[in-house]
Amino acid sequence: MAYDLLVIGSGAAGLSLALRVLAAKPNARVAVLAKGPLSEGSTMYAQGGIAAVLDAADSTDSHLADTLNAGAGLCNVESVRFVVENARAAIDWLIGQGVVFDREDGAYHLTREGGHSHRRVIHSADATGRAVQTGLMARLRESGADIFEHHNAVDLIRERLAGGRLGRCVGAYALDRSTGSVVALDARAVVLASGGASRVYLYSSNPDGSTGDGIAMAWRAGCRVGNMEFSQFHPTCLYHPRAKSFLISEAVRGEGGKLLRPDGTRFMDEYDPRGELAPRDIVARAIDDVMKRLGCESVYLDISHKPADFIVAHFPTLYAECLKYGIDMTKEPIPVVPAAHYTCGGVLTDRTGHTDVENLYAIGEVSCTGLHGANRLASNSLLECLVFGAAAAEDIAGRLANIPPPPVIAAWDESWVTDSDEEVVVAHNWDELRRFMWDYVGIVRSTKRLERAKHRVKLLLSEIEEYYGSFRVTSDLLELRNLAMVAELIVRSALQRRESRGLHYTIDYPTPDSIAPVQNTILVPKNFSVRRQS
Ligand code: FAD
Ligand code: SIN
Repeated sequence: MAYDLLVIGSGAAGLSLALRVLAAKPNARVAVLAKGPLSEGSTMYAQGGIAAVLDAADSTDSHLADTLNAGAGLCNVESVRFVVENARAAIDWLIGQGVVFDREDGAYHLTREGGHSHRRVIHSADATGRAVQTGLMARLRESGADIFEHHNAVDLIRERLAGGRLGRCVGAYALDRSTGSVVALDARAVVLASGGASRVYLYSSNPDGSTGDGIAMAWRAGCRVGNMEFSQFHPTCLYHPRAKSFLISEAVRGEGGKLLRPDGTRFMDEYDPRGELAPRDIVARAIDDVMKRLGCESVYLDISHKPADFIVAHFPTLYAECLKYGIDMTKEPIPVVPAAHYTCGGVLTDRTGHTDVENLYAIGEVSCTGLHGANRLASNSLLECLVFGAAAAEDIAGRLANIPPPPVIAAWDESWVTDSDEEVVVAHNWDELRRFMWDYVGIVRSTKRLERAKHRVKLLLSEIEEYYGSFRVTSDLLELRNLAMVAELIVRSALQRRESRGLHYTIDYPTPDSIAPVQNTILVPKNFSVRRQS
């Protein structure tokens, strides 16, 4: 199957890029891959909204300053400027695609979230992701792109050059989950838009598919990855035995929600003068501290002092979901705990989303563009998907005609493998990996616990590689293999950072290093080579 462009992922990043390339090059052959239904990914579940300067009293300098402040000294200022200055155009484009945002008194309603010094989060009630995802999916279905649902990309394919050297990216192998066979898709350009890796932790706000496939594939293909130690934990996920880590949007705190101990007393002012609206790393650590000190299973988020009709109008999804568990948020506090939410690090890219490998791009949560630094500012993620999606689309559309067609690609070789008779190994290893990542590589870290995790992940990786070499691939095995690799990258990066900064907090180095210059953690794979400029 030969394409001009292969897009791996159908969230905000992948869909916006595919639509923009097709708008610029209507005859381009574009394929979009999703490992489940087209709709399934973090984008669909995004709640709070998209940060953008849309109010005359606000400014891009202020958005820039808030992003840099949350990023704790590690943001790339030029990347941040690029994103905040292109935010309004990204929102206008979404509106042009038919995405509808909430209005109040004739203007777009802007909500507030932690770390923002202005109201600047445009939203569609408390289900902004659903509005974006369904709007863009409808456009894609009428765009002429070939859509491959239930296809897991397994690995990227690079051209073999004389002397065995690896050249440009020319496609990917993908597991067709309906037949169990692996197909080769070749393309002039390939885009990773495969989301983050928060499912590496036992408790996560993310859907099941956030298994870091794109990061692991890019690493295996020879791309550098950056800042993998910065796993963001969202402070407030619903705590209930039957609720599968359902997020309670930061917008609830933005609209006046207070965090309470089980005895009803507030605590955030004791941790930060910004109280409940401090950046996420600070709020999540404060909750973790309160829970550990008091030995309680959750803290509480209370917005019941606001009028019931205000709460139901602003948070219809949260209200309905909480009611399912017998919690009426208009009348009582919601029990909440932190959970893994966002992967700030990822595949290193330039300003056009181009990675270290020629013709391979990475956009959205899979990437590390320099926007987030050591901690992402709320609602900057969907924005990054859209702005870098546009930049990569422009670059690809401009280059496509000059990229030669890919060479003939070898078919996937299954002659060595058989069907697994030990699926229990995969299930056991999934569980073990996520548990030790939660216990040893979580909100508060120590060198000793990181060393334990390093040892465990090494054992798991060798077991998984042996299994992978012997048995036919399944979706679970592919995801486990990728998660273990990402876990190794996270642990290795965390051990390298001998300070606490942003989301990475270790009791062995509890403060930021004020002597050495601030450094990104960049890991270089064995097969890395500098991309030639084209
Ligand atoms: P995703 O939307 O996660 O999409 C990933 C895609 O890649 C999917 O189509 C998936 O099938 C595909 N894929 C993955 N691996 C493979 C593979 N191996 N083969 C083929 N396809 C693959 N951010 C904000 O800015 N504002 C918010 O209000 C907000 N709220 C959030 C609420 C929740 C509950 C969550 C979980 C996240 C929230 N975020 C928010 C973060 C934001 O939603 C995500 O960072 C963003 O949607 C990521 O978009 P993406 O396109 O990079 O990836
Ligand atoms: C939320 O609504 O709290 C999520 C916002 C985000 O992750 O940026």
